[in-house]
Amino acid sequence: MVRLICLAIGYAFGLFQTSYIYGKLHGIDIREHGSGNAGSTNMLRTLGLKAGLLTFAGDCMKCILAVALVRILFAGSYGDMLPLLAFYAAAGTILGHNFPFYLGFRGGKGIAATAGLVLSFNWIMAILGIITFFTTFFVTHLVSLGSLLVYVGIMIELVALGQSGYFGMSQMHLNELYAVGLVLAVMAFWKHRENIKRLLGGTERKTYLSSKQKE
Ligand code: G3P
Repeated sequence: MVRLICLAIGYAFGLFQTSYIYGKLHGIDIREHGSGNAGSTNMLRTLGLKAGLLTFAGDCMKCILAVALVRILFAGSYGDMLPLLAFYAAAGTILGHNFPFYLGFRGGKGIAATAGLVLSFNWIMAILGIITFFTTFFVTHLVSLGSLLVYVGIMIELVALGQSGYFGMSQMHLNELYAVGLVLAVMAFWKHRENIKRLLGGTERKTYLSSKQKE
């Protein structure tokens, strides 16, 4: 039951769709532009760097806040399970971001919220994620490729850190953590299925931080 509560808390935070709100304030539905994704990359592509950065910050922050709330609510009550509950809150946030009921379940791909997950969950994963993403981005200018590689890294790091005893959780809770992580990774790949087709076909959009966007 407590897992469901954490998921629900996260889902509620995930409903705050920064790109959709920012877009509406500027007279557009971001889902009708660019890649059609309600996320920071498409905001950068469509409305510029400031819009992209603000969207990233908002979507990342909502996950950090959901995790913080769960940690505060359940501190001291669930022993070694607290990191797992925090992970459920982050998973719920990504779910709410990707599938917001009030937008017909058409949200984003959950990458900025995933940044919130790693930032609030583990500093080693955060640093490795930042290195993976920015190395891929600056070499290829393919945000989707960077996002997918970060997810592959997250799965490897979760298992490596978990099995080394870093999270201080029982094997049963660790297995559950890996399972939730795997669900998130599968969801991220599924959400990026059109990007993957374009990546394989060599037609994926490149993203630039300047005005030199190329569609
Ligand atoms: O964060 C989403 C990114 O990985 C891809 O976005 O708009 O290029 O599909 P987009």
